[in-house]
Amino acid sequence: MRFDIITVLPGLLESPFAHSILQRAQKKGIAEIHIHNLRDYATNKHKSVDDYPYGGGSGMVMSIEPFAACIEKLKAELEYDEVIFMTPDGETLNQRIANQLSVKKNVIILCGHYKGIDQRIRDIYVTRELSIGDYVLSGGELPAAVLVDAVVRLIPGVLSDETSALSDSFQDDMLDAPVYTRPADWNGHTVPKILLSGHAGEIEKWRFEQALERTKTRRPDLLK
Ligand code: ADE
Repeated sequence: MRFDIITVLPGLLESPFAHSILQRAQKKGIAEIHIHNLRDYATNKHKSVDDYPYGGGSGMVMSIEPFAACIEKLKAELEYDEVIFMTPDGETLNQRIANQLSVKKNVIILCGHYKGIDQRIRDIYVTRELSIGDYVLSGGELPAAVLVDAVVRLIPGVLSDETSALSDSFQDDMLDAPVYTRPADWNGHTVPKILLSGHAGEIEKWRFEQALERTKTRRPDLLK
């Protein structure tokens, strides 16, 4: 799967993709992540990518020309399944959406800044608008990194134990059961005996009950 991320702050996206699972996915050739500096597509003298809003008001609005130039260039070279705009007024990202996106081939992600982006970019190019939650961040870069992480780990072959993505919290609308590792007794705080019993069937039943209980108390909305 290939991601092309368009941003005014490419440096902000260096680290999130340079470690752990995302780095490994790229090394294995399962995921390709290309970062494009929007400023490289600005044609005016000052390389500005924003302008004052029509009708007045505070804050700057990101202009249509640089985004259009970058998206058109990408689309001339490759077919894209989605052009996603990260925005707090988009649909809230969840596991179902991450699953849907994990079977796509090529995806463009637009990161906004300032007061927003010219509505015509959204009308003309964007196929999907996603938010990572009901709070406002300074730009779309961190949300883009969150989206890519949530999607890439679902692509077969990315996680060494493929079942571990399937048993993640939310994958079946349930939170995860609690987990423990050694020591079995830490200063009197012990691990539930069932986990030491070796009875696979009983352990699975216990995990299901724990997951259900946790979901009921923390996220009853998931069970509806
Ligand atoms: N840009 C700023 N805040 C955001 C959010 N919560 N989700 C997605 N993009 C954003």
